[in-house]
Amino acid sequence: MILDIVILAAGKGTRMKSKLPKVLHNVAGTSMLAHVVNTANRLACDNLHIVTGHGGETVVKEFSNNSTINFISQEQQLGTGHAVQQCLEYLTEESITLILYGDVPLIKAATLQNLLSRVSNDSLGLLTVVMEDPTGYGRIVRNEQGIVQNITEQKDASVKDLAIKEVNTGIIAVKTQALKKWLPQLSNDNAQGEYYLTDIIAMAVADNIEVITQQPDQAWEVIGVNNRIQQAQLERIYQQQLSEELMEQGVSLLDPDRFDCRGELSCGNDVVIDINCVFEGNNRLGNGVLIGPNCLIKNATIADNTVVHANSVIEDTNIGSDCLIGPFARLRPGTVLKNNAKIGNFVETKKAMIGQGSKVNHLSYIGDAQLGEDVNIGAGTITCNYDGVNKHQTVIGDNVFVGSNTSLVAPLNLGSGATVGAGSTVNKNVDEDALALTRSPQKAIKNWTRPTKINK
Ligand code: UD1
Ligand code: CA
Repeated sequence: MILDIVILAAGKGTRMKSKLPKVLHNVAGTSMLAHVVNTANRLACDNLHIVTGHGGETVVKEFSNNSTINFISQEQQLGTGHAVQQCLEYLTEESITLILYGDVPLIKAATLQNLLSRVSNDSLGLLTVVMEDPTGYGRIVRNEQGIVQNITEQKDASVKDLAIKEVNTGIIAVKTQALKKWLPQLSNDNAQGEYYLTDIIAMAVADNIEVITQQPDQAWEVIGVNNRIQQAQLERIYQQQLSEELMEQGVSLLDPDRFDCRGELSCGNDVVIDINCVFEGNNRLGNGVLIGPNCLIKNATIADNTVVHANSVIEDTNIGSDCLIGPFARLRPGTVLKNNAKIGNFVETKKAMIGQGSKVNHLSYIGDAQLGEDVNIGAGTITCNYDGVNKHQTVIGDNVFVGSNTSLVAPLNLGSGATVGAGSTVNKNVDEDALALTRSPQKAIKNWTRPTKINK
């Protein structure tokens, strides 16, 4: 079977009140249209066509790294049927065409696969749902035998048809040959003066093509987004689904209503995630990892039994096992922590390799640096990595002890076993096992008289 998928995405999305085209608004950190494209790819689609209109250039640009998409511009939005007409010349003669919507992002591949299995030379698949309040939707009109006859849009419907609660989701799977026959016959002689895609249902019936309806597994799969309230509703549904999947896999979420993942998150056993954490991009957590409350974690790998305490921000970082991080730590891109490393509160790292068992416990900046094993960095240590023009490296050997409130002026090399006295500004390399000390010797002036206040 050859599969052509058409995604309609030309609408303006007026009610979003945004300069961004509607289909580029996000659900779970990914644009709605990208969700649909991903689903299309999961279906092993052969040819993917996206109909753009309002903000079309912005949409095309957003997908510029995906050369497999055929973008088709619909200059004027004359209706859903007109939108699909624009694609006809690009559809493969012997294929099945599946029609999806850029503003219906949560449709599941399994539901669509099921719908596709309904299509034959004598049948098409139509995805419908039953709604308590069907207002605004096209109604599925059936005869006394329950056989689908046609779809009537809200604005064209008779009082009798308006009572029908089974509605059209818009998603249709059909033989492309049939589509090529029916679409050119559409007329816009209706209440909205539009070319309705839904009119092909009556044409199918006239051609003895059976209309097989199917409902999605979950009603939310076919919810479309027209405003930011619906967008937020879909965001919650998405997060709820994902958190249930994670809990089924053995992850503890202390409150699944306060969990957000905008990307991929894979977890080992016995992972515990406290409230208000946000995971972005691609994250991997090993067995027994604990994430405290209010953490932002982006593109990180965290190995077994590491604990991330509250309010830590971690990005593009690779963390070993049994590490302790935070609270209030900030690990910036290029940070690598080896096993048993410790990064404490108000510590910022960037492009830094922290060796096994090394500790940076308080109030420090470690950037463009390499630390060996069992290094101890005292509170308030700064790697002065930037001279105003260029960045320089600080290399620190195993077992180095850096006293508190020290400036390490890069480029700099501290040999293994070296000690730096507290309060030093070190700008020359220190040999192995040497003590470096730059602070001035303490003076003591006996019986010092403090100044007294002068009365004016
Ligand atoms: C359509 C269906 C209706 C169904 C409903 C489900 C028709 C005639 N009606 O109605 O039966 O219950 O969807 O939500 O199909 N679009 C284009 N180009 C156009 C017109 C629309 O790309 O010229 C896109 C829109 O961006 C949108 C989608 O098609 O994503 C649906 O269009 P919309 O105008 O919202 O159709 P409805 O009136 O809601
Ligand atoms: Ca709509």
